Amino acid sequence: MLNQINLSHCQEQAEVVAAMAKVKAAYEMGDHMASLQAFRRYTRNGLDAAISFHPVHQVPEEERKWAFELMKTCVKEYYVRGGWGWNDRDKWQELTDETSCFLLARDAVSGSLLGFVSFRFDLDEGVEVLYCYEIHLSAEVRNKGLGKFLMQILELIAHRTHMRKVMLTVFKENTLSSRFFREKMKYCEDETSPLYCDPLHAEEYTYSIFSKTLTRPAAKTSASTTPAAVPTSSSSSFST
Ligand SMILES: CC(C)(COP(=O)(O)OP(=O)(O)OC[C@H]1O[C@@H](n2cnc3c(N)ncnc32)[C@H](O)[C@@H]1OP(=O)(O)O)[C@@H](O)C(=O)NCCC(=O)NCCS
Repeated sequence: MLNQINLSHCQEQAEVVAAMAKVKAAYEMGDHMASLQAFRRYTRNGLDAAISFHPVHQVPEEERKWAFELMKTCVKEYYVRGGWGWNDRDKWQELTDETSCFLLARDAVSGSLLGFVSFRFDLDEGVEVLYCYEIHLSAEVRNKGLGKFLMQILELIAHRTHMRKVMLTVFKENTLSSRFFREKMKYCEDETSPLYCDPLHAEEYTYSIFSKTLTRPAAKTSASTTPAAVPTSSSSSFST
């Protein structure tokens, strides 16, 4: 019995070590958009946007400030009303944490910023994930497909870096973005969301944690086959 417990403890530890190695490798990959040439431009619905990837240290101070102000405009009210309060310094530190990565969307002609995504590779409950911290677009470019396009890029990056899922937190009060993630992007309530972690008090929480699990077909025995990961719209975090 003791041996079995030790064995499963060792297995768990080995899995966490393997997950940490994937996170480390993801950070070492460099420009994640370099291999996604077809996704570097978004030209639809009157938009002509150029998308680029940057670790936080490559984002100039004035663009970080632009992203911060846009984020503040979009979500400060939810933090305040949700009882968390808003602290400029704390949110700035979170946004500019040294592990933060950015996708920036710019007008391809003028170069002006249209929106951004900030994300990190991380372990969540011992599982390797791409965590989307923020996604915000300027009001005038919303509902033109750019948000969906950026989320698809995140999912591709997550596949290529062998993350198990893409995660994000949404304020319940932010019904527009909740519906966007649920209905359009097919995200599901994560197993770590209050709905499942604290079901008796779930109503008291002001946020939900959503995720999309990335499945990989079982490896075929043929040496010539390279299995590719695919997102599953029906998958939930319970399948991890
Ligand atoms: C949330 C946000 C990123 C979505 O990006 P977007 O570019 O406006 O959304 P898209 O145009 O890509 O929407 C893609 C699809 O979802 C649909 N959609 C958009 N908003 C929706 C909503 N609130 N409910 C249901 N569907 C929605 C669109 O009609 C579109 O459908 P289609 O593919 O069938 O044409 C963007 O609106 C935004 O920046 N909002 C403010 C900031 C914010 O709340 N961020 C989220 C914090 S968690």
